[in-house]
Formats: sequence, structure tokens, C-alpha cells
Amino acid sequence: MSTIIEDVKARKIFNSRGEATIEVEITTSEGFGIASAPSGASKGKAEAVAYPPGGVDEAIKKVEELIAPELIGMSAEEQEEIDSLLHELDGTKNFMNIGGNTAYAVSLAVADAAANSYNMPLFQYLGGYLACHLPYPLGNVLGGGKHALGKVPDIQEFLVLPVGAPTFISAAEANIKVHRRLRDLLIKVDPYFTGGRGDEGAWAPNISNEKALEVVSKACEEVSSEVGFECRVGLDIASSSLWDPEKQRYIYANEGVERDPGEQMEYVLDLIRRYRLVYVEDPFHEDDFESFSELTSKVRGCLICGDDLFVTNEERLSTGISKGSGNAIIIKVNQVGTLTDAWKTVKLAKESGYIPVVSHRSGETTAFHIAHLAVGFGCPIIKTGVLGGERLAKINELIYIEELLGEKAKMARLRI
Ligand code: PGA
Ligand code: ZN
Repeated sequence: MSTIIEDVKARKIFNSRGEATIEVEITTSEGFGIASAPSGASKGKAEAVAYPPGGVDEAIKKVEELIAPELIGMSAEEQEEIDSLLHELDGTKNFMNIGGNTAYAVSLAVADAAANSYNMPLFQYLGGYLACHLPYPLGNVLGGGKHALGKVPDIQEFLVLPVGAPTFISAAEANIKVHRRLRDLLIKVDPYFTGGRGDEGAWAPNISNEKALEVVSKACEEVSSEVGFECRVGLDIASSSLWDPEKQRYIYANEGVERDPGEQMEYVLDLIRRYRLVYVEDPFHEDDFESFSELTSKVRGCLICGDDLFVTNEERLSTGISKGSGNAIIIKVNQVGTLTDAWKTVKLAKESGYIPVVSHRSGETTAFHIAHLAVGFGCPIIKTGVLGGERLAKINELIYIEELLGEKAKMARLRI
């Protein structure tokens, strides 16, 4: 059989923040797969542990000594079996022994190798011939929080979602135009603006959250009328980074304001209404399912998305579903470890009317696999940044996929 695994290799490479990460290569009798793991700066408490105590070097050893001997001889098509084997070899709930990033790189390299052995694009191997919907790119254009240094907005990400785009390439271009327009607007509102950007390529100016929302809205409006379709504004508040559990308050250090959960609710509701926000991620800290559900019941036409809240975990999503917390979920495979775990969460999300948003991390490699995951898993939104080689690797891959699909290509159905 062409998909029999003959060799498994692991090496240390570096991500966009210059941190060491793991890359895994799988050779089958007729193909080859490769995958590398991203890493987060504002991680959720319930995420899989990224690496074993000895870091990337120990992770590489685990692949070579523990995982490779088991995988060699198996078929790369046995994704579920391989993923449960990774859980077995690890023996903990959150990949403390082999590392979630190790599991991620192995799991994805296996799928990549299987697809390549069949001479098939990864999205088609994962989603079949009916996988022909392109996701809307959710782009980070301005930010602060844990993704930048100095006096930057407390809110981590100000995002653009080109909801009216007729094609993927026009959507990607609109996001780039908003990013570029912002540069001109920021020069006027921040006299010290140096053109500095944060980890995900978003501008990192010294302005308030409110000012940031004003300029991003203005840039979106201008670009919308220029391109002839609507680009709307979203936020990732990454509230767990602002939450002080002792004070039971959200600390907006740059703004010099503290908000208790009730005030946070009012604040977020006010921003959604005033700026017609289409997307808000992590408006409350990672254990506050109740506030997520209250907010979700109070708004219409805005996605309330859980990242640190759900950490791509099926069980945590089930809790959210039973409480009505949110209506969208971030899918970062390395939060949970394997492709099978992530797919189960995506499936549950779709069955329950939650929109799955496949996402990059702030520390990325130039790998493009998440582009294929978005199309293969049928996720209507991909969150992957606007500028920077490691972000454009995903965007450009989707442009290629759109071209490859030809007349079959359609934009995803996005009901907000
Ligand atoms: P990360 O988070 O820094 O953990 O990748 C990005 C995000 O909060 O979406
Ligand atoms: Zn987030």
C-alpha cells in the first residue's frame, strides 16, 4: 500500500517570534508529509501543554525514540488510530509527557503524508470532493495586549472581516487595503507612530482602545466603499490576559480603568452597538461561561467567539453549548493536540450551530496547513493575520486552493 509509513523524523526549527519549535517529517512508500507547530503568547489555562519539561529537544527525542518505532509500518491513513496512539503513549489528559505541539506536528504530518501519497491536496483528502467552500479571512490589523510591547491598546486584536467579499482573493485584498489605509490614519492620530507592528503583523500604535476602534471603523468604511462590498470590524479582547482573579476585575492598564464583570458586560455591549461589531472573541475570562451566555443572548448579528474559553476542547464546548455560551469557537489544533480531537470539536460545533473559526497562533511557522484545514473541515472563517510571510503563507495557499477548485469554488455560507 502506498501510505505505509517508512520513516519519521523530527527537527528543531524557529517560529515567527524566533522561538524554537518542532517540525516533523513522515515518509511513506509513495509519499511525504511535513508539519510544524505554532505557539501562543496568550494561552488558555486548559490548553494542552506545548512541550515536555525538557522543551523542543526532549520532544524530538520522544518522536525518535517513542513515537517513530510505533508509527513505522502503520498506514498514514489510520489517522484516528495514530492519534489515539499518541494519547496512549503520552498517558496524560493534556499531553504533559510528549507535548501538545509534538502531537500536533506528528498528527498533521501523518495527514499530509497520506494526502501526498494519493497525490491529493490536503483539503480534499480531509474533506472529500465536496469541500469547495473558501473561508472568509478574519484579519488582525491593529493590536496590543500580549502581542506587543509598551503603551499599546489593552485590547489584543482589532480585526477586519470582509463579509461581503465575492471571492477569497478579493477578501484577502480588502484586508490588506484596510491594513494599508490604517497606516495613513495612524500617522495622524499618533504623533510617535513608528510603523511598529506586533507579533501578528498588526499595527501597534500608542492610542486608546476607543481611538483604535474609531480608526479601524473609518478604514473599514473607506475600503468598503472602494471595493464595493462590506468589511466589518471585530475584536479579540483576550480577556483572560486582563482578568485579575484576586480583584475580580478586568484591568485595562494602559487605559487606567478597571471593570468588574458587570461593567465589562456593559462595556462590550456598548462597543458592539456603537461600532456594529460583527465578531467579539473572549469578551470574558476563560472560566466565565455564564457571562458568555448572557452576552450571547443579548446581541444579534454578532459572533461571540470562545478561544481561551473552549481551547478547541470538545468537553469544554459541550459545557458551553449546554449553557448557551457563545455562538462561535476558535479552532487551534495544538490547543488540543491531534487532528482527530480538533475534528470532533469542529463536528460538534457545526451540529450545534456554532461557527468554527480555524486560527493561526501569534508565533507561527511558514507552514500553510491551516488553509487546508479551513476548507477540508468546512470552516467558514479563517483567522490568520494580514501581513507577514508566516501569515501570507496561509492566505496565499487559499488563493491557490481557490484557483485549483476553479468553477467549483464558492465562498462559505456565513450566517451571522
Ligand atoms: P496566542 O493567541 O497568542 O495564544 O496565539 C492569539 C489569540 O488569542 O487569538
Ligand atoms: Zn484569542
